[in-house]
Amino acid sequence: MRLTYLLLLSIFSVAAPATFAAQTYISADSALDITSGEWITDPVLIVENGVIVSMNGDIGNATSEDHIVELQGMRLLPGLFDMHVHITSDPSLQGYNRLRPSELRSVLKGASNARDMLLAGVTTIRNLGAGGHGDVALRDAIEDGDVIGPRIFAAGPSLGVTGGHCDNNLLPKRYEDTAAGVADGPWEVTRKVRENIKYGSDVIKFCATGGVMSKGTKVGVQQYTLEEMQAIVTEAHRRGRTVAAHAHGTEGIKAAIEAGVDSVEHASFIDDEGIALAIKNGTYLSMDIYVTEYILGRGAKLGILEESLAKERTVGAQQRKNFQRAVAAGAKMVLGTDAGIFPHDESPKQLSRMVQFGMTPLMAVQAATINAADLLQQKETLGSLTVGKSADIIAVAGNPLDKIELLEDVKFVMKDGVIYKQKGND
Ligand code: ARG
Repeated sequence: MRLTYLLLLSIFSVAAPATFAAQTYISADSALDITSGEWITDPVLIVENGVIVSMNGDIGNATSEDHIVELQGMRLLPGLFDMHVHITSDPSLQGYNRLRPSELRSVLKGASNARDMLLAGVTTIRNLGAGGHGDVALRDAIEDGDVIGPRIFAAGPSLGVTGGHCDNNLLPKRYEDTAAGVADGPWEVTRKVRENIKYGSDVIKFCATGGVMSKGTKVGVQQYTLEEMQAIVTEAHRRGRTVAAHAHGTEGIKAAIEAGVDSVEHASFIDDEGIALAIKNGTYLSMDIYVTEYILGRGAKLGILEESLAKERTVGAQQRKNFQRAVAAGAKMVLGTDAGIFPHDESPKQLSRMVQFGMTPLMAVQAATINAADLLQQKETLGSLTVGKSADIIAVAGNPLDKIELLEDVKFVMKDGVIYKQKGND
């Protein structure tokens, strides 16, 4: 009954945010100050027009128009961010099965994946690659209220060299299957960045080295030259877009950092010099250390190429070790999971692995919130429970700084002031 009311209210506030100025009061046991790690006790947050307008309201001031949400026994945190997602990918389709869905079918799968992610507590994602700019379409559909999902920062097609990790290499030449983002040489990549921006990309993704899931590429081998990477970064930054580089190999990682990327994805074989360079340049590392378990566990039965499984056996173990070294050295980190290879609602599971491999729970939660907002250059409006920021709020039943796994069972989800989930404290 109560939930029906909330959902109706949500739909109403999506449809008419400007005319509906009622406030939502949210009380809970505590709320996390994400920068200090302190818990604010007995907070009452007030949300108006999708924005947090107070952290210490008085429920006694609520009018009959207002909406009161009492989350007894729960703790509030900012909504989670995942900085490496493939929202339009179907995790049940691996290897050659990836050729089956059309781009349009993939976008509809994306709508379902987006809902799953949002209900798992992920309120913002960066989508690092989707053919046909399907992620841009989904981003806009979510913003327009047609479907529900996290706020999306979309890359559109990933840039990559001919035959590289970001190309499609499954079929022989007679099928002439080339990925939308393939571009070689400084001017071609510059043009591709411009084209992506033309069709709505918020962020530019490129493949600096080979990868695990692509046929015929070697993870350690650099694919773009430094000159090509510099051309991509120069054009993207000129246009106010951040850049994410897929890079597993030691040299490719360093070249990407030197070219000025904002984040290095995977960073599996990063060495001490690479870590030092990332720290010096303020480059974020987005190391997807959970996905290994899925690829080598459940994924192996779903048609992942034997070649990819073999690569994963070395990459996964090395990546976890290097994650630990990078954390110990003080590198800037965000949570990026590669959800899409595995089911999207499992994204928060990476948090406990980040703790297992050297982070404090607070560091892991910061990587999944305020650091990600910083990487997206959205720190003014996203990433913490602060007056003036978007009301992206989750609640869990207990203290996730004692038990990080609690974030795998989010009980309450609000995005932009709209409630999408409210479960009891069971
Ligand atoms: N998309 C990445 C690739 O194919 C996934 C790497 C997964 N493995 C890992 N240990 N992070 O290269």
